[in-house]
Amino acid sequence: MAQSFYITTPIYYVNDVPHIGHAYTTIAADVLARYKRLKGYDVFFLTGLDEHGQKVQQAAAKGGIPPQAHCDKLAPQFQELWKRLNISNDDFVRTTEPRHKTVVQRTLQALYDKKEIYQASYTGWYCTFDERFWTEKDVVGGLCPDCKRPLDQLSETNYFFKMSKYQDWLVTYINEHPDFIRPRARRNEVLGFLQKPLEDLSISRPKSRLSWGIELPFDANYVTYVWFDALVNYISIPGYLTDEPRFHTWWPADFHLIGKDILTTHTVYWSTMLKALGLEPPKAVFAHGWWTVSGEKMSKSRGNVVDPNAMVAEFGIDAFRYFLLREVPFGQDGDFSREAFIGRINSELANDLGNLLSRTLTMIERYGDGKVPEPGEPSAMDNLLQQTAVKLLGTELDVHLNNLEFNRALEVILGLVQLANQYIDRSAPWNLAKKAEDRGRLNTVLYNVAETLRFLCLALAPFMPHAAEEMKRQLGLMLNFSKPLLSAEITWGGVLPGTEIAKGTALFPRIDTTKSQGESRVDQQQPGTPTPPMSSAGGEGQISIDDFRKVALKVGLVAAAERVPKSTKLLKLQVDIGTEKRQIVAGLGAKYSPEEMVGKRVVIVANLKPAKLMGVESQGMVLAAGDLEVSALLTTLEDVPPGSTIK
Ligand code: MSP
Repeated sequence: MAQSFYITTPIYYVNDVPHIGHAYTTIAADVLARYKRLKGYDVFFLTGLDEHGQKVQQAAAKGGIPPQAHCDKLAPQFQELWKRLNISNDDFVRTTEPRHKTVVQRTLQALYDKKEIYQASYTGWYCTFDERFWTEKDVVGGLCPDCKRPLDQLSETNYFFKMSKYQDWLVTYINEHPDFIRPRARRNEVLGFLQKPLEDLSISRPKSRLSWGIELPFDANYVTYVWFDALVNYISIPGYLTDEPRFHTWWPADFHLIGKDILTTHTVYWSTMLKALGLEPPKAVFAHGWWTVSGEKMSKSRGNVVDPNAMVAEFGIDAFRYFLLREVPFGQDGDFSREAFIGRINSELANDLGNLLSRTLTMIERYGDGKVPEPGEPSAMDNLLQQTAVKLLGTELDVHLNNLEFNRALEVILGLVQLANQYIDRSAPWNLAKKAEDRGRLNTVLYNVAETLRFLCLALAPFMPHAAEEMKRQLGLMLNFSKPLLSAEITWGGVLPGTEIAKGTALFPRIDTTKSQGESRVDQQQPGTPTPPMSSAGGEGQISIDDFRKVALKVGLVAAAERVPKSTKLLKLQVDIGTEKRQIVAGLGAKYSPEEMVGKRVVIVANLKPAKLMGVESQGMVLAAGDLEVSALLTTLEDVPPGSTIK
């Protein structure tokens, strides 16, 4: 039977729409899940939503709707984003589902019956934001030691879990299991925290104060503390207390991936809860770092929250997945900026990887009649390429991914891409093609780069599933990524001579760095769909009249204009197009003031998918001339009515 691999993400609060922090953990978990499936493991990848508690109750109240309706409204935003990002989760938990709630209640009852939970009255400092009590010694100046918000003094009767009695056990457990809390610095942080006496954990909230939660089975005046409810998802969904054989195929989980802010809950609260239940702790809890945005903390009030949907609309799914895992070592904090993102796409994805594929296929078309040729005897240079590729799939990828060193895994993959590009440069197939006696060597070189691309395709599949599919298609390979392709050793020579290639569009189009935010949209054509046929006039880059007709160009009249806050280039325009008014964000602000724009007749693309630019929705595009900067706006010579068609 295949080995099992159980991986989780935190379950996200549904108090707001998903952001880059949520996408980060989920993409990382997806890469591991995909990799393990390719290795032949039986994988259970769980993500979902944390729908109870004060934060959600408050968000619902703010929206003026009942909490359940609020959750039902927001849940699809997460589910759709995961679908869009190609997340291959096996289940999606919502903590308001009966299958989870019943297990939480049965768990509570079991602990209550075992006298692990008791009632006591308590006076302490309460942080509403973090939904937790603090003791006198933690509080400085009446502020929460965690979020620095003012605390309220509360006197309450609550139920407590006897967490303190597990302190010594936990310290010993952490010391004896060096891989339990990762990276190492986080392990030390938890051990430091455990140097102070551990208190018992209040696991209830009186309904008079908070009603949105799971009712305690032994006291209907209380609901469960949201963290007690949420953590149980990791066992309720794989079948704890409901399907024990299934549960034991997955538990203990191999990895809980979390952000560094929820380390204590996942290591101290969770491990002691499990211990009290007689269950093993998860094999590993890995805490990643936080993203700042262009050097600043990401927050709603700063208006710099990175929306994954906007990033994907502008740069593509795989580029986004790649950047997040390539830019920063998992475990460390990192900074997100458009410049860094575009830099990586252009240099590593377009120039290095995309170019390797496209030049290889062009040469096979040109010198091999569109078929991978038969290789001859290898030279020393060929051996190096071969050994590097075999080492990548044989050991390096495995070591780095098991250590959650995504950036290093991508670094070695990129190393092979660069080596293959150098191999082509040094072998100079274009010179070999000039002499009949070099034909054998030319064939060997072409074969070797095609074979290297097969290795790259396999290595990249967990990170960039679309790109891997497209590489495979263009190379004419018969790979089925839903099969355990990496379960056996990958040996050199898998590409069959004679394989017909099918060169298509660029894998990663270069991003035009001169365009302002949101305007550097990439072609959203899903790789894997065939390239549209060229017009009969032929010639690369030409399109047919039918293609051109797909673009709806219209005359618009600018009715109002203002600058987009914090942007030097972007203007927010209200454009009358006859039948309706459109809000269009355009990078015209360096050339035209808002006042100059009002009353202007402009040409717009009226059927462009809406996109958000710096958080502002744009429902179209204004056409302007200029290579680097906008130098002239397009208009019509005659005064035609708004909405007139341009053809
Ligand atoms: N509901 C709890 C988790 C319960 S798990 C049993 C929760 N939810 S959350 O929605 O507030 O946060 C989810 C995750 O997002 C956390 O892991 C947190 O670290 C992560 N991030 C929030 N902002 C982030 C960044 N700026 N950067 C990276 N990750 C960040 O906590």
